[in-house]
Amino acid sequence: MSEDLTILGLESSCDDTAAAILRQTGDDPVQILSSVVHGQNDLHAAFGGVVPEIAARAHAEKLDICVEEALAESGVALKDIDAIAVTAGPGLIGGVMSGVMCAKGLAAGLGTPLVGVNHLAGHALTPRLTDQVAFPYLMLLVSGGHCQFLIARGPEDFTRLGGTIDDAPGEAFDKTARLLGLPQPGGPSVEKAAKLGDPKRFAFPRPLMDRPGCDLSFSGLKTALLRARDAIVAEKGGLTEQDRNDLCASFQAAVVDVLGKKTARAIATYLEEAPTEPLLAVAGGVAANTPIRAGLETVCADNGLAFTAPPLALCTDNAAMIAYAGMERFKAGKQDDMRLVARPRWPLDKSAPALLGGGKKGAKA
Ligand code: KG4
Ligand code: ZN
Repeated sequence: MSEDLTILGLESSCDDTAAAILRQTGDDPVQILSSVVHGQNDLHAAFGGVVPEIAARAHAEKLDICVEEALAESGVALKDIDAIAVTAGPGLIGGVMSGVMCAKGLAAGLGTPLVGVNHLAGHALTPRLTDQVAFPYLMLLVSGGHCQFLIARGPEDFTRLGGTIDDAPGEAFDKTARLLGLPQPGGPSVEKAAKLGDPKRFAFPRPLMDRPGCDLSFSGLKTALLRARDAIVAEKGGLTEQDRNDLCASFQAAVVDVLGKKTARAIATYLEEAPTEPLLAVAGGVAANTPIRAGLETVCADNGLAFTAPPLALCTDNAAMIAYAGMERFKAGKQDDMRLVARPRWPLDKSAPALLGGGKKGAKA
């Protein structure tokens, strides 16, 4: 192997087909030479959620196009690829299989090593790609498909401190938008409406606050919002724009509050290990929410932690994070062979008890 290590990464576990090429020269920071993402929003829009069969078919059709685009953008030739990293789970099984089959075909054809990657490890290791963060750090994954607190100790060494037992927060934002007739994805539209609303008008529940630990629940919040909406409609015959804004503001305030308080608990557990450079990193689409981010930054400042959030394009599903996680595994001397299987479920922390839902949109852990 030359001094350069060049990795092709593939991602297809939910509704984004992605390919990326990363290179590391010696011990220099890893460079992202290309990162191509083809979303499938249009294909699923009419169904109100991701349809697994449609997703799998679209991944199978798009993967090689993504690879060609990633190669062209990076100026790297296939013969210069040192290893192929691919999401092998957790996720929608048809999509994961499409990616694994594509990677196996390429690896067999090129005689290149194959590295299976846990999608969640991809998200959780991203702060090392973007900010060279040192282990151990605390990680909060918050997206449409994930919600969990992890202590990252090594490329394959994670301890899960807690997570959602039902919906992921992004899902709750999306459902809230649907209930109020606001456009999808719900996060940005609810955040926008919330800016003009009264966060105190509705006293929505703060689920699981009375339970010790860092587990979260968001489905009751959505039900409370539905009841509040229906009560207004029953009383006044419909919702005014102000009603909508107030419902959004009160919903968002509850999410900010719960995430902030549970993060404080996760921080307390993490600090028991006396990390030398304590840090919280956040990833996932929900990290784009300004009040949520501000809430997390405040909790970090109060507890003496640094805070980092990778750029949004690397927080949401992408293949650069898969190539990076594959690079860490490969450098540690690990790789897979043609027996690599696609896994619908694949918890990062094998010792933690299974969460009930863990987010229904896609990845389960
Ligand atoms: O990480 P992501 O792109 O995809 C996966 O879930 O895999 O996250 C998308 C989720 C959606 O549910 C979307 O509504 C939410 O992130 N989101 C937001 C915001 N922007 C995106 N949620 C709250 N506030 C936002 N500004
Ligand atoms: Zn993801």
